[in-house]
Amino acid sequence: MSRTTYYTATTLDGFIADEHHSLDWLLTQDVDPAGPMNHDEFLGEVGALVMGSSTYQWLLDNHIATGGTWDYRQPTWVMTSRDLRAISGADIRFARGGIRPVHAEATAAAGGKDVWVVGGGDLAGQFADAGLLDAVIVSIAPVTLGAGRPLLPRRLDLRLVEVARNRSFTCARYDVIGPRA
Ligand SMILES: NC(=O)c1ccc[n+]([C@@H]2O[C@H](COP(=O)([O-])OP(=O)(O)OC[C@H]3O[C@@H](n4cnc5c(N)ncnc54)[C@H](OP(=O)(O)O)[C@@H]3O)[C@@H](O)[C@H]2O)c1
Repeated sequence: MSRTTYYTATTLDGFIADEHHSLDWLLTQDVDPAGPMNHDEFLGEVGALVMGSSTYQWLLDNHIATGGTWDYRQPTWVMTSRDLRAISGADIRFARGGIRPVHAEATAAAGGKDVWVVGGGDLAGQFADAGLLDAVIVSIAPVTLGAGRPLLPRRLDLRLVEVARNRSFTCARYDVIGPRA
């Protein structure tokens, strides 16, 4: 059965990017790409992606603009209120507003595989607000930033399901219980 999972790296103090959307703090860390809770293994279980426009813009600016290709074969919903540039050959669907129809479409497209909420944190929060976020997987880098783009700016209870170390990272998998009273 399809699950909706927010999978991301974070700083120890709960930021997924700095105030300028830089991931320098992340890309310099030591990680085993075949180690616990690695990206490729997770992606193999994913049938559809949903991301916010800043995350999409980061990929455009830092990956596509430097000659990289769109790495995802799965359909990807990009949440935005603006008209953004699509990427040739990529299955990208722009959407806005309530998250429920996007969740329904993405879950149907995933064909039993998981829906990956790529980020940012408020987008994951929108899924949680609607009771549609099943799990959170974080790789915690050994760095603090003091400020930046938040990991998950909501009050939620979660259940710790799994922990592992991947070189520099503490990796943790949680099930979402629901809003914290
Ligand atoms: N550490 C990691 O592994 C990791 C993972 C993912 C992302 N990131 C980074 O973290 C940062 C996240 O940026 P962010 O906090 O700004 O979050 P984001 O979710 O990437 O982008 C937020 C923007 O998405 C649009 N949006 C979100 N929900 C919407 C909705 N329901 N309807 C219409 N538009 C909606 C809005 O912009 P507009 O309407 O103006 O377009 C909103 O300002 C990025 O720099 C990204 O590269 C890091």
